[in-house]
Amino acid sequence: VESERPDRLFHDGYARKVAGERGFALLERYAGAATAAFVTIRTAYLDRAIIHAVAERGIRQVVFVAAGMDTRPLRLPWPDGVTVYELDRAELIRAKTSLLPDDRYPPACDRRRVPVDLTGSWATPLREAGFTALAPTLWVVEGLLFFLDEQAVRQLLIGIRELSGVDGLLVGDLVSQSTLDNPLADRFLKTLAKDGAPWRFGTDQPEDLLAQCGWKVANLLEPGQDGANFGRWPYLVLPRETPHVPRSFLFTADAS
Ligand SMILES: C[S@@+](CC[C@H](N)C(=O)[O-])C[C@H]1O[C@@H](n2cnc3c(N)ncnc32)[C@H](O)[C@@H]1O
Repeated sequence: VESERPDRLFHDGYARKVAGERGFALLERYAGAATAAFVTIRTAYLDRAIIHAVAERGIRQVVFVAAGMDTRPLRLPWPDGVTVYELDRAELIRAKTSLLPDDRYPPACDRRRVPVDLTGSWATPLREAGFTALAPTLWVVEGLLFFLDEQAVRQLLIGIRELSGVDGLLVGDLVSQSTLDNPLADRFLKTLAKDGAPWRFGTDQPEDLLAQCGWKVANLLEPGQDGANFGRWPYLVLPRETPHVPRSFLFTADAS
């Protein structure tokens, strides 16, 4: 939908195909939590962060941790020499591959699909797919961490840090604990749980969580703040010290 606006923030020519009718039905099913505005802003923020990391920092190894239906391997302007790893469940990878087969939709980079369980031992299959540990790497954890429990989140962020060189970079998003406790989000959260995809983890101290897992926040924004507004966010952003506010955090963090 964003791609079809004259003032679009990005163009994803594959989104309608991978979303299908089911995607639009789900958007309606989960309406009421500014889902569409948030996803638009998150995509725009992360697109810019990813493009910057490869163009300006010279990173050539990119891992989409829980790639889902992300079409960035096809649609971003990758410089020569970039290898992109897509981690996700085998079932998801199969479904995406059949929607976007390589011969008809060739990626604009060296793209490698790696079926894994991110709560299990994912590092070995990633290495076997050609990943070079300790080489400068950009990790993208978008739309994932709230689906895991706290122990799995910490294990994953620490595991990623262990494979990163000192030039490692992590971008992604988190929600606040208050998002999970907010009575106004009750219907949204119950619907997710009923659909087998409950949200399990949030934190009101994302900087501390990331620091404890070896990542130093370079940039952290809530949708609506300068740098994460793009004229799309319909709500006020309350100061961080205001307690009990449902929040989403978009972050860029360096290996520390
Ligand atoms: C909401 S989607 C986000 C996809 C993509 N990053 C994006 O933002 O468009 C969450 C993804 O996490 C994957 N996922 C959740 N838990 C996982 C696990 N334990 N192992 C592997 N993938 C997992 C799901 O299969 C799904 O593709």
